[in-house]
Amino acid sequence: MGKIAIITGVSREKGLGYETAKQLKELGFIVIIAARNFDKVSDLAKQLNVMAKQLDVTSDNSVNNLAKEIETEFGKLDALVNNAGAFFDQGGGPLSTDLQFVKDAFDTNLLGAWRMIKAFHKLLEKSDSPRIVNVSNGAASFGDPVFGLAHHFSKVPVYGITKLALNGLTVKVATQLKESKSKIKINSVDPDFTATYPGTEQWGARPVSEGAKGIVWAATLPQDGPTVEFFRDGQTLSW
Ligand SMILES: NC(=O)c1ccc[n+]([C@@H]2O[C@H](COP(=O)([O-])OP(=O)(O)OC[C@H]3O[C@@H](n4cnc5c(N)ncnc54)[C@H](OP(=O)(O)O)[C@@H]3O)[C@@H](O)[C@H]2O)c1
Repeated sequence: MGKIAIITGVSREKGLGYETAKQLKELGFIVIIAARNFDKVSDLAKQLNVMAKQLDVTSDNSVNNLAKEIETEFGKLDALVNNAGAFFDQGGGPLSTDLQFVKDAFDTNLLGAWRMIKAFHKLLEKSDSPRIVNVSNGAASFGDPVFGLAHHFSKVPVYGITKLALNGLTVKVATQLKESKSKIKINSVDPDFTATYPGTEQWGARPVSEGAKGIVWAATLPQDGPTVEFFRDGQTLSW
């Protein structure tokens, strides 16, 4: 059987998930794209000639049901791309933000990936070269000189903190995997500022095909490739 990849949060043709699916399909993967809205993800899957599944990463049932389906259909998973993410702050700072917004942001951006990893790690262990990619952001990096967490220009505190926590998940899952001598490699990847929404090019966002390359690279790392790192374009980014 070929290699199987699941990408979460694929509901838009302009999104990083769609482009990641396209590139993994070109590399020969059997690709499963998943999103909350089944009609949307089905249409996109037809365009790419890949499989579509309904998935809400904030729902334990939805995540666990998908894991059961994949176990029945394929019996393994080779690459899990935790791409679903949202909750970009709309102004304001941590002192004035609505804490329900913060809870919802964590439920998707952190717990969404956490649920997926918990539900799928046993299927990943059935692969010869299992990979997990947590799609993060430079806004979570203490070292990023432009978008970084500590930079005064950073205007997305809630989003940045959720991605910081996602990076923490990468590190702590890797620690447990190492203890159990797992083959799974897990990394956080920042696709960099990418033009997934109209008008962002004028602010310097790069083409989606460029942004997705680093995600695909981390999903297809060779056996001697790195684990538990934070990357942008295959280069180490400061946590
Ligand atoms: N674009 C950038 O410059 C950039 C930079 C760094 C990192 N990122 C990260 O890259 C990832 C993709 O972003 P994008 O720019 O391609 O935007 P996007 O198309 O809006 O992607 C986000 C996806 O997450 C999905 N999603 C949200 N909540 C979900 C849930 N509960 N269950 C399942 N899916 C859910 C959205 O689906 P719905 O349509 O259902 O809401 C959407 O398909 C995100 O994690 C983002 O934080 C983006």
